[in-house]
Amino acid sequence: MRMPETWVILNPMETLDKLAKHYDLEARTRLEKPHESGIYSQNLKTLNPENSRLGFGCAELFAFLDEKQIRGKRVLDIGCGAGADMIYLNQLFSPQTITGIDISNEMVQLASKRFVGSNLKAIQTSIHEFEEQQHYDQIISNAVIHLNQDKSRIFQKIYTLLKDDGEFLCADFMTEQPVAPQLLEEFLASGGLFLFGGLESKEVYLNGLAEAGFEEVEVLETRSFDPTNQIQNLLTQNPALLKSLKQSKFLIVILKAKKQAQYQLISLYCPQCKMPRKIRHYPSLNQQIHRTLCKNFPNTLFEPCPSCERLEIEAPMQYHDMDAKKMAVVLPPEQKHLQSELARSLLEPMQKQMPHYRFNLCFGLAELQKFR
Ligand SMILES: C[S@@+](CC[C@H](N)C(=O)[O-])C[C@H]1O[C@@H](n2cnc3c(N)ncnc32)[C@H](O)[C@@H]1O
Repeated sequence: MRMPETWVILNPMETLDKLAKHYDLEARTRLEKPHESGIYSQNLKTLNPENSRLGFGCAELFAFLDEKQIRGKRVLDIGCGAGADMIYLNQLFSPQTITGIDISNEMVQLASKRFVGSNLKAIQTSIHEFEEQQHYDQIISNAVIHLNQDKSRIFQKIYTLLKDDGEFLCADFMTEQPVAPQLLEEFLASGGLFLFGGLESKEVYLNGLAEAGFEEVEVLETRSFDPTNQIQNLLTQNPALLKSLKQSKFLIVILKAKKQAQYQLISLYCPQCKMPRKIRHYPSLNQQIHRTLCKNFPNTLFEPCPSCERLEIEAPMQYHDMDAKKMAVVLPPEQKHLQSELARSLLEPMQKQMPHYRFNLCFGLAELQKFR
């Protein structure tokens, strides 16, 4: 088996450099030989035919965006390419500003030439280097994160760039199963296929976003994607690769992560001394949970536990997979002794309202991992 180009793994700056050159060439080639990107609906093609030919993304995002989050607000497009999503977003939702960032100089040039109006701008920079004092209401990225190997760092950066109640919408190539290391090595070693070298499972994204601090992470759509056309040559030379490729199950996934930093403190009983203790409640996230907790645990003095002063505060988090139709309410592990009461008072009413969903209580992220 060919060995990977070691610098791809060892030196992220050189990886970005290689990516930038690749996308410089993509921008030039697309201009010389225009073709439909294949992701935009007929309505959008009619609205702006030229723009639909300059998209490089993997999914149309607009149906998943919340107009309230964007109209008159600040938007950031990470890896904006030739600005196709920015231009459509501007036409459809009238944001105050949209900033696009991309490491490819030629993509940024192409985008900037096409912008009409002063509320759109594109900057040549990587997400790692990008600094901005004013935060964003909405961040999008379309077919970008999979190109990068340090996803956790990117998710942390996105979290810090968002305002409270800001939202991140991401469409990307992922896999259902963890990717076999051999497959990644093949990708990294083989010409244009280094583009798949950062491919990772949906799990890595969901965990990375939760670890970065996002309180609500939803999978909005999962489509299977067959990459065999793209890598036909490689496959005929290497049947073992075809096997591991099939095992990984390629996907295009659209997911949304919400930063819910505005919270109220509510109290549950301290498991040690049985005095009320506080947990964070995010109003726009968990109205129903809040109501149920307050009803069933009325002793909600909003005070620190006076006896043991143990105030380890952890958010109730909601994990929502619309595709698999399942939802988990994640609570601090210390609340496990309340499991049966919480299941009765919290999950049963939800289950009645949405019988086609599977609900679960998870105490801590480790339990959430199993539930996924
Ligand atoms: C497949 S294209 C998608 C472009 C655009 N989002 C669209 O939908 O048309 C990926 C783009 O992400 C950019 N990119 C990749 N990694 C990046 C990073 N770390 N920071 C900024 N841009 C990045 C590439 O230069 C490329 O233009």
